[in-house]
Amino acid sequence: MSILAKLPEIIQGGMGVGVSNWSLASVVSRNGQLGVVSGTAIDVVVVRRLQLGDFDGSVRRALDSFPLPDMAKRFWDAFFIPGGKPESKRFKPLSMPNLRMKKDAIERLIIGNFVEVFLAKEGHDGVVGVNFLEKIQLPTLPSLFGVMLAGVDYVLMGAGIPLSIPGILDELQKGEKVELRINVDENPERHTFTHRFDPKEFFTSRFPKLKRPKFLAIISSDILAKTFVRRATGYTDGFVIENHTAGGHNAPPRKIDRTKPAPREYSRKDSADLGAMREIGRPFWLAGGFASPEALKDAIAQGAQGIQLGTIFAYCNDSGILPETKKEVLQMYFDGKLKVKTDFDCSPTGFPFKVITLKNSVTNPEVGKKRGRICDMGYLRTAYASEGKKVGYRCASEPIDQYVNKGGKVEDTVGKHCLCNALLATIGLGQVRDEGVEPPIITSGDDFSFLDRMLDGPASSYSATDVLDYLTAGLDAESAPVELDSIVEVF
Ligand SMILES: Cc1cc2nc3c(=O)[nH]c(=O)nc-3n(C[C@H](O)[C@H](O)[C@H](O)COP(=O)(O)O)c2cc1C
Repeated sequence: MSILAKLPEIIQGGMGVGVSNWSLASVVSRNGQLGVVSGTAIDVVVVRRLQLGDFDGSVRRALDSFPLPDMAKRFWDAFFIPGGKPESKRFKPLSMPNLRMKKDAIERLIIGNFVEVFLAKEGHDGVVGVNFLEKIQLPTLPSLFGVMLAGVDYVLMGAGIPLSIPGILDELQKGEKVELRINVDENPERHTFTHRFDPKEFFTSRFPKLKRPKFLAIISSDILAKTFVRRATGYTDGFVIENHTAGGHNAPPRKIDRTKPAPREYSRKDSADLGAMREIGRPFWLAGGFASPEALKDAIAQGAQGIQLGTIFAYCNDSGILPETKKEVLQMYFDGKLKVKTDFDCSPTGFPFKVITLKNSVTNPEVGKKRGRICDMGYLRTAYASEGKKVGYRCASEPIDQYVNKGGKVEDTVGKHCLCNALLATIGLGQVRDEGVEPPIITSGDDFSFLDRMLDGPASSYSATDVLDYLTAGLDAESAPVELDSIVEVF
């Protein structure tokens, strides 16, 4: 069956870890817009849901539809705890991503990504996307395969310049072997390090029919859009132009003077040229502070297909953030005490990261100090070469002596936090330590002004459907841009 595809005006942006979960994305997609799940560390999220007893049976349901039943059984048997683990017991430790991942780690990535997209797509015909970060490279290939097995419609990727991903999607769709070049620091001999993945290893008899999802690059400038058009390994179907007011990680400010260190302030140079974007002639969406019906109309008037939003969805009832955290943030806003800070240091990725500091969050210095430094998940580790072709891994948030022993610079450790553990705690899946549960980290965009128009006060709350009703009120269906020549296969 094929349907005439209309591109969405609203993209509910990918928010990791597990903030844009399947239930949020499903609501958005059912309402005719693009719901996006986060694929970041989703293997851990799904594994931990199983250890909490899979209380709503959703993981079981998804696994029953996974095309490789033996693999699904291995996964279930390894992690499911009937009734859930006792609160005081730790979640099972998992191996960290690396260039020579064992079969079970690869299977976890395929299944975790499959489960989240399967559930977001279940029971409706709307389109669903997945968000990955270019900066996190090692899990990427099995993860892409997992989302394609679930029939994902869009792959959105930022936090880096993922030029090789469009071509990888083309190859995976055909069942071909794929490779991803891994960035390795301190590599003076310029060895090439690649991660290889062969989808046919998993389907020795009949390879399933897969759809090539549309690929949207999340970028901050028109110059990067042109780079994708010229140099990407396959077709880039569109762009999300995200500015520095957006939630999560932001692109660093552009250097004005190449001889000086990177500035810690944004300037006019950091705005994309929308005229240049229009000339490129591919659909684009604007992101960062666009949560109003007027901003949506204005974006369309400027030639955009629509907008991508994060914060307004992150703090709605359907997202993965713990309800008590949402309440605290809303209360702070209505009390006039909410501060959103661009933290240039806290993320081990090296990118600026937007934070709201709450009493119990890891960015509160007292909490951070008590938590200390532990790196046991490793998604944000960077690879470095040692002794020629040997590869080591380090994270600027690990214990300082370990980091320095691995050749890291002590100044790079200043102000760093373990985002992997903290982000899982934000959605209620924090690891249990001797001192208690891991503290969370809270991110959002700068703009919360939508709350004044959507809520009466801190005691009320809103759903993702309310968000869509609010944003699209007054949007003239006739005037919304429509892609006329695109046919999407639905199977
Ligand atoms: C809680 C939260 C987590 C986010 N995580 C990601 C992420 O994992 N990957 C990504 O590309 N963008 C991420 N973003 C950015 C959003 O997808 C979106 O582009 C951005 O928030 C838009 O700006 P707004 O918050 O002003 O609406 C995140 C945003 C928030 C608020």
